[in-house]
Amino acid sequence: MGVVSEKKVGSKPFELLLDQASIAKRVSELGKEITADYRGKHPVLLGVLKGCIIFLADLMRAINLSAELELVSASSYRKGKKQETDVLLASAVSIPLKDRHILIVEGVVDSGRTVSALSKELKKMEPASIEVVTLIDKPASHRRKLQIRYKGFTLRNDFVIGYGLDNTQKYRNLPFIGRMVDE
Ligand code: IMP
Ligand code: MG
Repeated sequence: MGVVSEKKVGSKPFELLLDQASIAKRVSELGKEITADYRGKHPVLLGVLKGCIIFLADLMRAINLSAELELVSASSYRKGKKQETDVLLASAVSIPLKDRHILIVEGVVDSGRTVSALSKELKKMEPASIEVVTLIDKPASHRRKLQIRYKGFTLRNDFVIGYGLDNTQKYRNLPFIGRMVDE
């Protein structure tokens, strides 16, 4: 054990924010809450790649329902010369979502643009409901009004890594969540 140190990742130090046990406990609680809320329904868990993957894998095993799994890929890109970014949804969902209960599964909600853009697209498919579960919410960063039904943890604006979340595609495999610290 102890393959991955919580003290140092490569040469990048970070501050440990959420250890494995805390994450596991919270994910289990979220699974129970979702199970109770969707009892008798067959929700579609719609994961937003890539940041959702570890959270989704753990969360879906904590949900005791007959649920389906779908994945979409979303990425932010710079729009023109301004700081403003836009969201590109790379793939359409491959099953019809009309009258389905959709639960969007996100790793982190920051500005909220991804969740907003995705919800807008999904609404066109006339689902029965759309809700969001995110492991991490950063409410101080929201740039629009958002309805997030299930939140694992609420954090400040810090950029965090691990448990599926990356910094330039690295650190997703860390089993815990840390805040990047500038050297
Ligand atoms: P949005 O600003 O809510 O649309 O989030 C856009 C995307 O930025 C998220 O899906 C993540 O991929 C990424 N992101 C935002 N904050 C963080 C963070 O703290 N760590 C890693 N990725 C982040
Ligand atoms: Mg990223």
